[in-house]
Amino acid sequence: MASDGVITHRSVEVNGVRLHVAEAGPAGAPVVLLLHGFPELWYTWRHQMPALAAAGYRAVAPDMPGYGDSEAPSAGPDQYTALHIVGDLVALIDSLGQERVFVVGHDWGAIIAWSLCLFRPDRVKALVALSVPFIPRSPAVKPVDAVRALYGDDFYICSFQEPGAIEAEFKRLGTELVLRKFFADRTPGPLFIQKSGWGSPDDEVPLPSWITEEDLKYYTTQFDKSGFTGGFNYYRALNKTWELTSPWTGAEIMVPTKFTVGNLDLTYNIAGAKVFINKGGLKKFVPLLDDVVIMKDVGHFINEEKPEEISALIIGFIKKFN
Ligand SMILES: *[C@@H]1O[C@H](CO)[C@@H](O)[C@H](O)[C@H]1NC(C)=O
Repeated sequence: MASDGVITHRSVEVNGVRLHVAEAGPAGAPVVLLLHGFPELWYTWRHQMPALAAAGYRAVAPDMPGYGDSEAPSAGPDQYTALHIVGDLVALIDSLGQERVFVVGHDWGAIIAWSLCLFRPDRVKALVALSVPFIPRSPAVKPVDAVRALYGDDFYICSFQEPGAIEAEFKRLGTELVLRKFFADRTPGPLFIQKSGWGSPDDEVPLPSWITEEDLKYYTTQFDKSGFTGGFNYYRALNKTWELTSPWTGAEIMVPTKFTVGNLDLTYNIAGAKVFINKGGLKKFVPLLDDVVIMKDVGHFINEEKPEEISALIIGFIKKFN
């Protein structure tokens, strides 16, 4: 694999925000932009980056704004709308000298990737979305209200809305334990996080087999430095995004897309998700959707849990659009 497998790091200034970017693969090769979710970092792509480089692509994985070594927009949650984050990614694509790129997103990275494809299909050759399907905008109900009606105030998206209490709870538990709880969760159902107490600081949570103590140490060090507020701000901007995306109500995603999710993933087990994904709902909004892949006995962190399978799925799909 020679030096193509080596991951290098640099900073890129986009729209006045400094982003930390990890890269692998030959300069001048087609770019694959890798977008991580919550609570993760560029590091979630550590297995895919050398695989993409070996297949002749240039993998580019930023710490998303507000995460890790990237700066956090300082004016608060309203600067984390899908329009803001997509704007930063368009500037990043420009700074890479690319007209069009491949995009891969997981969790919040998938939501942002869908938004990038919705707003700027001209900049994306093909999309691979992991774990979170496209969620069409309801003109009647805001997403936070929709999930609260289904699951109540302790559903994690609701717990993350108000600044303060959830930050204090995560501080009480400690960064390492919080991350262990997220990574170890395999409940095929809604995730509840009580602001008033999500367990005890003495809880012992063994790591699943797909992540090492050394990996956890990197995540812990970075979230200890940055805190979780940058990540929470994506959830706190949902209302504003809903308000601003009214013009896209009913719009289709006109980008060739592959979607995969684990059958144990909480996102796949949310009310209505299976029917939407498997019975034509998703295809209606994403006409260029390729066959959906439901991975058996796989949880939420699919690209870390099944690294070879996901790398092969990405490469197998995007090579058709080189
Ligand atoms: C978003 O709006 C809902 C009510 O529609 C509210 O409960 C929630 O706290 C709001 N989120 C933020 C961050 O203001």
